[in-house]
Amino acid sequence: MINDIEKVLLSEEELKKIVERLGAEITKDYEGKKLVLVSVLKGSVVFMADLMREIKVPCTIDFMAVSSYGSGTKTSGVVKIIKDLDTDVVEGADLLIVEDILDSGVTLEYLIKVLSARNPNSIKICTLLDKPERRKAKVYADYSGAQIPDAFVVGYGLDFNEKYRNLPFVGALKPAVYE
Ligand code: IMP
Ligand code: MG
Repeated sequence: MINDIEKVLLSEEELKKIVERLGAEITKDYEGKKLVLVSVLKGSVVFMADLMREIKVPCTIDFMAVSSYGSGTKTSGVVKIIKDLDTDVVEGADLLIVEDILDSGVTLEYLIKVLSARNPNSIKICTLLDKPERRKAKVYADYSGAQIPDAFVVGYGLDFNEKYRNLPFVGALKPAVYE
């Protein structure tokens, strides 16, 4: 598995620092609010599990699963809800979408449209990684862990064909693996 990695972009130590910083920012901003962390499956589970423990204000968690990718490394542009939120009471909630990576932005643009229609009090985005060069939709992260160059990355929850999610760091995949 490790032989398929070209370069480590974020080490375990760097990821820990990033998550602590984001947790502190969110803690400050959500005092007295009705925070609901919405993890986008499956890529954000590792990030979510670490981030929620750095948030020191009360919150609840929920999960959504969407798909836009098929099995390749480029978005198909078509987003499909595979699993919706468990909660029906989004009205008045302060939703914070927790994503692994903001790439074209097509997935989050769609999610925000769907969730806004349910009248939350607020809706914001926290992404671990951001690839701004690749943006197609007008979507911006309110909380961003790190900007990365346009390479296909895996680890810390991120996959290629469902593999590599269990790597503890974020690394660029060797192009030979997906070409
Ligand atoms: P977007 O709709 O193009 O912004 O795609 C977002 C989703 O695509 C992310 O939540 C990831 O699941 C997936 N994705 C985008 N870039 C990468 C990558 O470099 N590695 C792994 N998954 C990625
Ligand atoms: Mg994802």
